[in-house]
Amino acid sequence: MKKAVILISGRGSNMQALLKAKLPCAIAAVVSNRADAPGLDIAKARGIPTAVVEHGSYADRDSFDSALAKTIDAFNPDFVALAGFMRILSAGFVSHYHGRLINIHPSLLPAYGGLNTHSRALHDGVKIHGCTVHFVTTDVDHGPIIIQAAVPVLQDDTEQSLAARVLREEHHIYPQALAWLCTSQIELNAQGKVLFQHQKQSGFTLVSPGLE
Ligand code: GAR
Repeated sequence: MKKAVILISGRGSNMQALLKAKLPCAIAAVVSNRADAPGLDIAKARGIPTAVVEHGSYADRDSFDSALAKTIDAFNPDFVALAGFMRILSAGFVSHYHGRLINIHPSLLPAYGGLNTHSRALHDGVKIHGCTVHFVTTDVDHGPIIIQAAVPVLQDDTEQSLAARVLREEHHIYPQALAWLCTSQIELNAQGKVLFQHQKQSGFTLVSPGLE
């Protein structure tokens, strides 16, 4: 069975969704860059090995990234999933895990890379927002897209209500993306595109606000 390591920085709800899903791969470990990340306790309670590599203890990004890669590689994973891991990764780290490193981001990329995605979407008045799972490249938040989920933005939405609606969908699409990766149903080709072995094309049109 393939193995994955999950990287977190905080709450860990996406990590929890991955741990709860019946994935066709083993979660070998959860690694955090913060010792106080609440997600670490959730992982420990499920008997998953955890490790902490605190970014503050390293002089620069490259030395942190090499220590992080060493910690990850000790678990010998096939794949690495960033689940709310809030550090920008160096080119060396990204290339070491080329085609094996995925991330979840709370927007419909390429719109709203970076932080505060929900408040920016509300500010712009977009009517459809969502989340994306993508392969990580050096182009932060803009790697090849694996799967996206769209949600309506409602008139009374606050940043919190919109974030909650998006997060529910994050918890659906991230396990699906990792399951596809672990069963070789997707791969990153030489042109940087995501190839599906047998993509079940489905879905429906989301019109927001709905037509009368
Ligand atoms: C999630 O919404 C995730 O998409 C986002 O951080 C949150 C972590 O929540 N990630 C990013 O913004 C990465 N650019 P979680 O710790 O409960 O999974």
